[in-house]
Amino acid sequence: MKQTFIGILTEKMQNAFEKAGYDADMARVQASNRPDLCEFQCNGAMALAKRVGKNPLEIAQSVADVLQKEAGEVFSEVSVAPPGFLNLKASPAFLSSYLRTMCGEEDFGAEKTKTPKTIVLDFGGPNVAKPLHVGHLRSAVIGESIKRILRFHGDRVVGDIHMGDWGLQMGLILTEVEMRDPSLPYFSKDYTGEYPKEAPFTIAELEEIYPAASAKSKEDEAYHQKALDYTQRLQAGERGLRALWEHIIRVSVSDLQKNYDRLSVSFDLWNGESTVQPLIAPMVEKMKQDGFAYESEGALIVDVAKEDDKKEVPPCMILKSDGAALYTTTDLATIQDREEHFHPDAIYYVVDKRQELHFVQVFRCARKCGLLPEETELKHIGFGTVNGKDGKPLKTRDGGVMRLEWLIDDIDKAMLEKIKTNPEIPQEEAEETAKKVALAALKYGDLSNLIAGNYIFDMDKFISFEGDTGPYILYTIVRAGSILKKAKEEGITLKEDLLPLPETEPEKKLMLTLASFAKKMEEAYEELAPSVICAYLYELANDFNSFYHTTKILSEKNEEKKKGYLALLKLAVGVMETCADLLGFEAPERM
Ligand code: ARG
Repeated sequence: MKQTFIGILTEKMQNAFEKAGYDADMARVQASNRPDLCEFQCNGAMALAKRVGKNPLEIAQSVADVLQKEAGEVFSEVSVAPPGFLNLKASPAFLSSYLRTMCGEEDFGAEKTKTPKTIVLDFGGPNVAKPLHVGHLRSAVIGESIKRILRFHGDRVVGDIHMGDWGLQMGLILTEVEMRDPSLPYFSKDYTGEYPKEAPFTIAELEEIYPAASAKSKEDEAYHQKALDYTQRLQAGERGLRALWEHIIRVSVSDLQKNYDRLSVSFDLWNGESTVQPLIAPMVEKMKQDGFAYESEGALIVDVAKEDDKKEVPPCMILKSDGAALYTTTDLATIQDREEHFHPDAIYYVVDKRQELHFVQVFRCARKCGLLPEETELKHIGFGTVNGKDGKPLKTRDGGVMRLEWLIDDIDKAMLEKIKTNPEIPQEEAEETAKKVALAALKYGDLSNLIAGNYIFDMDKFISFEGDTGPYILYTIVRAGSILKKAKEEGITLKEDLLPLPETEPEKKLMLTLASFAKKMEEAYEELAPSVICAYLYELANDFNSFYHTTKILSEKNEEKKKGYLALLKLAVGVMETCADLLGFEAPERM
């Protein structure tokens, strides 16, 4: 399918403008602002009237005359309303034939791009040895959905988790592990034997070790110095420390993997800040030689301010006065590394919007120092915070950090209670189903908001089966799916070429919404906005439900008609499932 539904309507409109003797550039058809009056509208006559100095009503009328004569197969109604609107309805036969084509197309007619881009998507961003908290939820959920939206469009995406696995936090852990068991072989420089295969800690211990070490180092200067020393020795590649560090990474990564699996979130690359450490020294050297980086108060910096900056953009600090590299330095080296490996057209970062200034500095510095070609796009997709009902960032009841695991446990549990009220579902299935629906509740609750906005984590609202929620969407898919299943059990074969001509308002509305699928997916791609898909899915679910409530489907006596309804249902389920998949969740068999 080369064209979107609304694209075809626009093309007809453009032809009509030309036939009536006008330029076609303003002849755009859009969804109606007044669904009570019409399905589509064109405001082109008003825009054109100014240019050609004519009465808009007159222009609209002459276009309408052409449409009525020549475009009857596409528009069943064309009327003119002051001051110059063209109000339109789509022809039922045309709508129906468009949907039939859609049924037979891959991705229901949403075209893959002819010019795919290579995009590195930096999301997740967990820190090893620290549990994921609710702040990591958005990066994971939004990043996963954007990854799917980009791929659906046809782009090549490399999802990179970019773990925080380097720096002082590692030195702190090493220090604390030694304190607890000085007999371990990792700390002695003279040790030449093999190191144990087993890590000397579990993930639970590791998660307790880091905060303990961090607290101690704040109070105890000697402890702090030791951590700094270990950090440096690790960075210098000392064998024992390196072996212990690898244990930290392995234990953490397998735990992270479990958590991301639970969220149906995956990465192509499990790189971290450590990955690019070897690149830092030569990169910094070159920045100095090229005259971009210079010393100031002992530190090495690159100026990145611009004359027209409204807010001050401080210089980018590359090395601290003690010679240590920073978060910024690592991000710069990572850009160089990505350029080398993937030569991407774009790098997108799905990171908390409070890091905006960091990314402004990094991007400017990368461009100034020529770390990547001029035309490579760098974009920070900054997201807002998840708040509690008090409007402040979500915390546990006693004010602690809300671990992501606990949040998922809570929502799984609450959902299981609801699913268990359906006596037909056996316990084991209920648990699986609850997990699926809970995931949809969590993800939809997040993605239906604008990315840059904050939202309130309102569990009761998120898990509700009614309203603009994930469970409502899944419930609708399951309901439609169960009718199809019954039809199959009755031996009815589904044929899309039987797709009906719309007869009732709800039926036509459902068909029109289905017809706008490809266009909506384009919009979601262009705006990088999963919320566009949520809004579409919600509209579609509502349309399906009004159709369902006003139409007898399986009990319809006319066999042709019944098969037509079923074909429509099948398309609706397919489109809804595709949208859910782009958001990163799926429907259970029943709920
Ligand atoms: N680990 C960082 C944090 O927890 C997020 C990393 C984001 N990605 C990046 N390339 N800077 O804040």
